[in-house]
Amino acid sequence: MKLEERCPILQFADLGDKRGKLVVIEGGQVVPFEIKRVFYIYESDPTVVRGQHANRESEFVLINVAGRSKVRITDGIEEIIVELNKPMMGVYIPKMIWKDMYEFSPDSVLLVLASTHYDGREYIRDYNDYLEEMKRSELQTGGIKYYI
Ligand code: TYD
Repeated sequence: MKLEERCPILQFADLGDKRGKLVVIEGGQVVPFEIKRVFYIYESDPTVVRGQHANRESEFVLINVAGRSKVRITDGIEEIIVELNKPMMGVYIPKMIWKDMYEFSPDSVLLVLASTHYDGREYIRDYNDYLEEMKRSELQTGGIKYYI
């Protein structure tokens, strides 16, 4: 399956009316996991690059509830860049996908929904280690692929 199919853009229903907008996100429904943790990133400088890791156990949904940012997503072979710029959209990031978040607007509030409680040991923070791990798992399944 292509990377953009594995990391779909999610569109959330708008239950707003003339009083304003209302977006509801339920775990196990539009978000394909039960939500165990929520965190948000704000006041990141436009020059900052965050993320820069892959997770062995956690799945995430990223939503810019205010402002905008970009997410570069790769599995070491394909790469996609998603601009998060609407409170009604998110991107799903499964396990073992590398992500970088950057170009935060001054008003950016990047909300992250996670499938796990925090455990720093499940993070891969070195891109070369990540590629090695991906190549090893590919070898186990008999594939030959070209990593970037
Ligand atoms: P980090 O993973 O570098 O943040 P990001 O992916 O958003 O760039 O996390 C920064 C610090 O915060 C690091 O010391 C770990 C800690 N942290 C937690 O304790 N719990 C969490 O849920 C998260 C995301 C980070």
